Amino acid sequence: MWIGLIIIASLGDAVVVKMTNVVCESYNQSWIVVNLCRLKAVGRDKVVFNMNQNVLHPTNSVQVHANVLKKANGFKPWVISTKVDVCRYLRKKYNPFATMIHGLFGEFSNFNHTCPYVGPLIIKGFYLRPELVTLPWPTGEYMIAMKWFYYHRHQSDINITFVFREDLHSAK
Ligand SMILES: *[C@@H]1O[C@H](CO)[C@@H](O)[C@H](O)[C@H]1NC(C)=O
Ligand SMILES: *[C@@H]1O[C@H](CO)[C@@H](O)[C@H](O)[C@H]1NC(C)=O
Ligand SMILES: *[C@@H]1O[C@H](CO)[C@@H](O)[C@H](O)[C@H]1NC(C)=O
Repeated sequence: MWIGLIIIASLGDAVVVKMTNVVCESYNQSWIVVNLCRLKAVGRDKVVFNMNQNVLHPTNSVQVHANVLKKANGFKPWVISTKVDVCRYLRKKYNPFATMIHGLFGEFSNFNHTCPYVGPLIIKGFYLRPELVTLPWPTGEYMIAMKWFYYHRHQSDINITFVFREDLHSAK
């Protein structure tokens, strides 16, 4: 972890990490409605993610299964696979990978209070900042695939694809 952080910190703006696709899917329209799930380019290497989902019933039990996949003839499982009890996590931040993801999203979302969750779940203007990604990602295309379970039943997915590369043009 620390080695990755140091390498990326020293590469500075020679690293580009950019989202290339997002997919949000509800598997139960009577619980979750996806109103918005979209990337928007706002600059040369800056893409922002906007999402709006509506949770129709108060939900006190949320689990997320997150996998990081790397593209090589289709997406293959890569280093990270984790399961997080989101309601427990929001009471006490116990999982380092969740802390990394939450650190990335935190200020752009309203996922910042303890359960229950009901009503809009919003991510607004989120973008990936390489200095916050504390792993030494090899250049390539990745996907963070998140399956969301409410009361241990799979209700929705959020999949975010991004590229990570060294930007030779801005390298010093
Ligand atoms: C779909 O959501 C409704 C409303 O919360 C719930 O009662 C039902 O059990 C869910 N169905 C499945 C298959 O999870
Ligand atoms: C949670 O996020 C909302 C919306 O961004 C913000 O208004 C609120 O102050 C935040 N609450 C905490 C506890 O950070
Ligand atoms: C998200 O990605 C996972 C892993 O590749 C896949 O199993 C799942 O079907 C995807 N979900 C959607 C909605 O595309």
